Amino acid sequence: MPNHPPQNLTVATTGASGAIFLRQFLAAVERDRRIQTVNFIASDSALRVMAEELGLRGRSNLVNQILGVSPRSSGNRSPRKIRLQSNDDIGANVASGSYPADAMVVIPCSVGTLARIAHGDASHLIERAADVSLKEKRPLVLCVRETPLNKIHIRNMFRAADAGATIFPLIPAFYYRPASLDEMAREFTCRVLAHLGLPQPGAFRWKG
Ligand SMILES: Cc1cc2nc3c(=O)[nH]c(=O)nc-3n(C[C@H](O)[C@H](O)[C@H](O)COP(=O)(O)O)c2cc1C
Repeated sequence: MPNHPPQNLTVATTGASGAIFLRQFLAAVERDRRIQTVNFIASDSALRVMAEELGLRGRSNLVNQILGVSPRSSGNRSPRKIRLQSNDDIGANVASGSYPADAMVVIPCSVGTLARIAHGDASHLIERAADVSLKEKRPLVLCVRETPLNKIHIRNMFRAADAGATIFPLIPAFYYRPASLDEMAREFTCRVLAHLGLPQPGAFRWKG
């Protein structure tokens, strides 16, 4: 059985809008001492969207670029637990059920990736790792983002949920009155982590 709360996370990002959510998510898992290992996979389309939304340039030092950490700056610690895996490498650790991944999050999740996961098309590492999560009955959280949704998207969300995934749409809350986009994305990230059994200090709690 996977560890609860999870210590070994797989985080994937795809070509849907919402790269600031990924940035906040990676920052949170890097901070959280309960998490020991993070295998991180980015699709080619994710790179394209991150170039638009975060101003990223190419794949070099990708994790540092996403987190806004300069490798040359001695004042900033480089992320140590986040290991970048190639989406083309279907021989990577997380491609096998024998590797002890505890949970997987796809943030943001495009409807293209959703469709491939929902139909068991495991030709790239992201979809293969998701497929493994489902077959091993490990938590799989899909932060799907698209609007409006057509019936294919809705059917695929049903198929993935029916197979055991949690559909966790990239729909932030507003009742805590976020002061910035970063705060909005951070609170959303806290909700995803709390769902996995990793409640975050300082997260907003509704008191009624
Ligand atoms: C700037 C930009 C924003 C996009 N936003 C979305 C989106 O919100 N949701 C989505 O499903 N696709 C979106 N797309 C389209 C996907 O990137 C495209 O379908 C891609 O093939 C998905 O590939 P992937 O699932 O392998 O990452 C966007 C593309 C671009 C360039």
